[in-house]
Amino acid sequence: MDNTTPPRPAWHYNEFVQTGVDLDDADMVEDYDHRQGSDSEEENRLIATLGIAAGDTVVDLGCGTGSFALAAARHGARVTAIDVAANMLRYVARAADANGLTNLQTLQGGFLSWQPAAASIDVVVCRFALHHLPDFWKQIALNNIANALAPGGTLFLRDVVFSFPAAEYETHINAWIDAMPQRSGFSREEFETHVRDEYSTFDWILHGMLQRAGFTVREHNIHAPQYADYLCSRR
Ligand SMILES: C[S@@+](CC[C@H](N)C(=O)[O-])C[C@H]1O[C@@H](n2cnc3c(N)ncnc32)[C@H](O)[C@@H]1O
Repeated sequence: MDNTTPPRPAWHYNEFVQTGVDLDDADMVEDYDHRQGSDSEEENRLIATLGIAAGDTVVDLGCGTGSFALAAARHGARVTAIDVAANMLRYVARAADANGLTNLQTLQGGFLSWQPAAASIDVVVCRFALHHLPDFWKQIALNNIANALAPGGTLFLRDVVFSFPAAEYETHINAWIDAMPQRSGFSREEFETHVRDEYSTFDWILHGMLQRAGFTVREHNIHAPQYADYLCSRR
């Protein structure tokens, strides 16, 4: 953040400290797309689902290596890729340069420190990033996103979100941690770290937070007891 950013009170959450798996680690960043299984066809399908047109103002919040941001820029949108991790942003900027994408800018910031002009954005995409904040701060972040979006603007949120009954948590968490290392590029230890040190929450909490922030949840897809998508419109 620059010198004009007002100082935070001592009680404010510090979103620039990596929680859980260190996603700002240089080796992690280089390998991330491969491990995450980033797929440009899937990004193009999401662009179509969200109805993004050339010239739209799009933010990829918690962009990581910017798989979505780069695809949206190739589509002609005016894209800002935002992340707290400097190494992630360097990767995105290099890829944008290599592809001649002058309509993509990077911004080091986070859900809480991003200070967009009100109603200035058409679409915000946020995938597998909001779980880095504890629940109280998730609500503040969603309020910030809602404020940034123009009325009728779109938020697409995807994350590790729990929809199993709380009483069955051990069964569902163990089943997930046993299955995912074979199905993804991430290790058992990384899934264990996610559950222990990061802040995935229940679907009913996140759904309520979205509504309280001023969103209508148009589509709500629970892919598995541990994953959910929310396609939302700013009221
Ligand atoms: C698991 S990665 C997901 C990256 C990308 N969205 C994707 O789907 O591949 C999570 C990203 O969120 C970023 N992040 C963590 N805390 C954040 C915050 N408070 N604000 C914005 N981004 C954050 C991390 O640095 C990391 O790049």
